[in-house]
Amino acid sequence: SESRSVAERLLAWYDVHARVLPWRARPGMLADPYAVWLSEIMLQQTTVAAVGPYFRKFLARWPSVAALAAASIDDVMREWAGLGYYSRARNLHACAVAVASEHGGEFPDTEEGLRSLPGIGPYTAAAIAAIAFGRRATVVDGNVERVVSRLFSIETPLPASKPEIRAKADTLTPDERAGDFAQAMMDLGATICTPKRPSCNRCPIASLCSAHAAGIEETLPRRLAK
Ligand code: ADE
Repeated sequence: SESRSVAERLLAWYDVHARVLPWRARPGMLADPYAVWLSEIMLQQTTVAAVGPYFRKFLARWPSVAALAAASIDDVMREWAGLGYYSRARNLHACAVAVASEHGGEFPDTEEGLRSLPGIGPYTAAAIAAIAFGRRATVVDGNVERVVSRLFSIETPLPASKPEIRAKADTLTPDERAGDFAQAMMDLGATICTPKRPSCNRCPIASLCSAHAAGIEETLPRRLAK
């Protein structure tokens, strides 16, 4: 029925259709904070497909944040070679050292605590808090921006629409399974609510989507011309 919420529909869809990715737990489970952190840093400027092999190599060589902290920066830079944006690798090692030396080898379990670490900004803090610790946190990446812009027919162009998008995304985030909800939004954006030719016929929230009702889904989100 129409009254089933966006979150209920997306979580039921995610239970069936979640992409199987090496850093993920099964739907309904919390993932390893170290794996979530490592993957989210790698995914910041790099595609899911390109990150896979690097993530696996890092986890095999340094299975814990303590192991990564004990590595030399030169070895970390060598293992990162090819991923680009090398300040990420320097911050990665600095963050591992901080977690090992200042937090007893355990990641802080709040957004605020996570944000105090090198290389962890608001996006990464929200992702780790929700996906690894089950906190209610709202995670907004480019995929989520597209899904929310369409769901609410937000016609203000990016980047001016960012605060409105974040506020709307926050109203959708459930108290339970916020991490699965965030990853369901990401997967919906990556596989169904795509920039071109979205597959609204397969979308679990198409009947709630304002842009789809108006036939303008492919024109959103608008972007300020560069
Ligand atoms: N991109 C960034 N974080 C992601 C995640 N947790 N799952 C899929 N794609 C992502």
